[in-house]
Amino acid sequence: MVRVDTDGNERAGKGPFRVTLGVSAGISIYKACDLVRRLKERGCEVRVVMTGHAAQMVAPVTFQALSGNAVITDLFTGAGEPSIAHIELAKWEDLLLVAPATANVLGKFARGIADDFLSTHYLATTAPVLLAPAMNGNMWRHPAVRENLKILEERGHVFLQPGRGSLACGDVDEGRLPEPVAIAEEALLLLSKAGDLSGMEVLVTAGPTREALDPVRFLSNRSSGKMGYAVAREALRRGAQVTLISGPTSLEPPRGSRLVPVTTAAEMEAAVAQHFPACQVLVMAAAVADYRAAQILPDKRKKAKGGWTLALEPTADILSNIRGLKKKGQFVCGFAAETEEVKANARKKLEDKGLDLIAANDVSAEGVGFDSDRNALILLWPGGAEERVPETTKAACSRALWDAISEALHGA
Ligand code: PMT
Repeated sequence: MVRVDTDGNERAGKGPFRVTLGVSAGISIYKACDLVRRLKERGCEVRVVMTGHAAQMVAPVTFQALSGNAVITDLFTGAGEPSIAHIELAKWEDLLLVAPATANVLGKFARGIADDFLSTHYLATTAPVLLAPAMNGNMWRHPAVRENLKILEERGHVFLQPGRGSLACGDVDEGRLPEPVAIAEEALLLLSKAGDLSGMEVLVTAGPTREALDPVRFLSNRSSGKMGYAVAREALRRGAQVTLISGPTSLEPPRGSRLVPVTTAAEMEAAVAQHFPACQVLVMAAAVADYRAAQILPDKRKKAKGGWTLALEPTADILSNIRGLKKKGQFVCGFAAETEEVKANARKKLEDKGLDLIAANDVSAEGVGFDSDRNALILLWPGGAEERVPETTKAACSRALWDAISEALHGA
């Protein structure tokens, strides 16, 4: 998608950041007024789109005065031809930020309902999307809202976690809109990182492998693929071309990725060997089986045979084997799933496998690691440096991981 000036000229990423601020009808709408100022202070050009209900809470003229631009409140008040104003705005903006984002707006975005300017515009944009939800605590925790958030997160959008405190309904609970400065800072961070992997070829592995025992049984592990898919999604969001080599999972591949499905460790090894030479960065988040059956039975083993002693043999170590293929300028990041001596064991893998970075993952900790939406990592570098990524969503872990890799690549 080419971004253009209002006069139709191609922009080529020059000039101040352009932010469309979507404002929906929450009591915290008063903070959105200050947010416009905070964005402008940071050099952004801001255009405001208000939902009809939001326009009943604060007069659009307030946002007009603060932003210095006309405010769009419905499909027929946008600049230019009414029928294409939402498309023009999509070409103009570098970021769509919605604050406050109500449960209604999240639901419409998640399900593709386009019944006003903001929701129609959302479908037309290819810019990064930053959402700052705010609502009553019970609404925030409702399964319908959680499901919509999951859909939007899987689509690559970024969320600001609502704060805890006193809400408009009188409850002290989760659901407060973060402070305008924090939202503006996050927007700037996203904008500055938006294209930092632009044009880069990235290879990500994800999920488990399965090693057959007989035609119906296999050895595998608890990997869901969520971590690797989040890593792939974040790389896409930052402009990389992403090849995702995935073991069997129930996940939708991130939009825009090239999926290479595999089943066994040997298939994953062959796929990595095939795609590695063309990539600049490899992130191995897959939980590759370390063992496979020495012999796969041709027919289903009958239970009547009684006990079954399996002979296992090690699979090839993919990361160790590509070491010899690595060219100057290629960056390889591994993960380490550990249950004891997490840092020491991960650091040994970093050295033994000749990696540029390893993400140590304590998979014995409650609520993180395998098959969870959350994780906590320690990024370990050769030479002893380390960085902790405290428990957060796998999407946020991926952002921290790519921040670290991008900094190393760009020598910042
Ligand atoms: O998929 P999820 O449910 O989201 O869970 C995420 C995760 C826990 C799987 C992920 O965060 C993680 O830790 N992945 C690495 C799992 C693993 O295999 O760790 P390891 O310590 O056994 O292996 C170290 C590194 O060597 C890994 O990068 C692994 O991909 C690689 N490896 C392992 C075995 C093998 N035969 N060849 C390899 O290249």
